[in-house]
Amino acid sequence: MRIPVIGNGDVRSPEDAAAMVAETGCDAVMIGRSAATNPWIFRQIAQYSERGSYQEAGDRDRFQMIRRYFRMLIEEGFPDAPGKMKQFAAWFTHGVRNGSQLRKLIYESSDAERIADEVERFFEKLLGGETALTAAGASL
Ligand SMILES: Cc1cc2nc3c(=O)[nH]c(=O)nc-3n(C[C@H](O)[C@H](O)[C@H](O)COP(=O)(O)O)c2cc1C
Repeated sequence: MRIPVIGNGDVRSPEDAAAMVAETGCDAVMIGRSAATNPWIFRQIAQYSERGSYQEAGDRDRFQMIRRYFRMLIEEGFPDAPGKMKQFAAWFTHGVRNGSQLRKLIYESSDAERIADEVERFFEKLLGGETALTAAGASL
């Protein structure tokens, strides 16, 4: 009987995933914490295994991800949406320029709509004119 073995622990980059497979011969790699701070890691691993390079997420990608998640919490009427926003704030804002300022404005309000608006304003300022089109064209 063949039992598949899944490698897990401290995989934070496509290089880590490749090294784990190379060193252990495991059948698959499982990712925990990095899925929250870098949800693009799965796509990056696929890119890395196909072409040996991968695309880093930028502030614009982070903005779209946070915006979508926060808007979903509001639109789906998630109980205690502000609490959920705060819970994930540290993970989602990881790597964002001026991230401490962003976290502060998420922690300061207890109103979900207000937090989502503040987050949008923060990124509009950070990204300059770039987000106007993104925000207008985004589906959520
Ligand atoms: C939010 C979160 C929830 C988790 N829940 C469980 C769980 O219910 N049972 C479990 O055995 N491990 C759980 N883990 C541990 C992960 O499965 C994994 O073993 C651990 O995070 C190490 O991998 P990582 O370095 O990629 O995070 C959880 C990890 C995270 C980040």
